[in-house]
Amino acid sequence: MHDHTRRLLAEIAAVFRAENRTCADETADALAAFAGLEAAPELAEDDSDAIRALLATSPLEVAHAALAAHDALPWGRNPVAARISPKDNSLYRVADLLGPDGPLVCPTLRAGLYYQRPETRYGLHSHAAVETYVIIAGRALWTAGDAQREMTPGHSVHHSTYLPHACETGPEGVVALWRWSGDIGIDSYRIHHGHDAFGVAA
Ligand SMILES: [Fe+2]
Repeated sequence: MHDHTRRLLAEIAAVFRAENRTCADETADALAAFAGLEAAPELAEDDSDAIRALLATSPLEVAHAALAAHDALPWGRNPVAARISPKDNSLYRVADLLGPDGPLVCPTLRAGLYYQRPETRYGLHSHAAVETYVIIAGRALWTAGDAQREMTPGHSVHHSTYLPHACETGPEGVVALWRWSGDIGIDSYRIHHGHDAFGVAA
C-alpha cells in the first residue's frame, strides 16, 4: 500500500466530517476502512502537470496530500463518459476512489477527485444521486439550481437529488473532492442542453 494515499484518504475523510452531514460522515467512515490505494495506471492523455501545478497553489492540507499521492491516483474518465462525446469528455478528469467499481469498493457511496481544465464549461446536468463538491484548488463559477457562486478552496456546494448544476473555470482550472450518496446509479445522469452545454468558456 501507498503511504501517500493513506494520508490522502484521511485528509478527505477529515474534510467530509467537517460538513456535519450524515452522508458525509458515512463516506468518511467508508474511506477510513481502507489502508490506501494500490498504484494506478498512468493517464492516457496527460493532465498530470496541470493538476500538480494547481494543487501546489492551494492553502489546503488535503490538496497537498493529493499532490503527494498523485502518482497513485486513478485519474481517468467520468463513469458517465459513454454519454458524453470524447471531445467534451476531455474537458475534465475524474479520479474514482470509492464506489461500486472501486478501486476502494463500496456498494452504496461514490467519492473521488475532479479536475476541470482552464477556460472550460461543464454545462447543466443532473442525476438522482445527492452530491457534494468541495473545492480544493483553483476556482470555478458554480451554478446549482438558481444560485451561482464563485468557489475557491474550502468552499463546498451540496446538490439535492436532480438539482441541475454546472461548472465554469477561468484561467486556473479547478480541482475538487466530490461525493455521491443516495441513488448512486449512473443511468439517471442527464445533460440538460445536449452537447451545446460543453465547450470553451465565453
Ligand atoms: Fe453532479
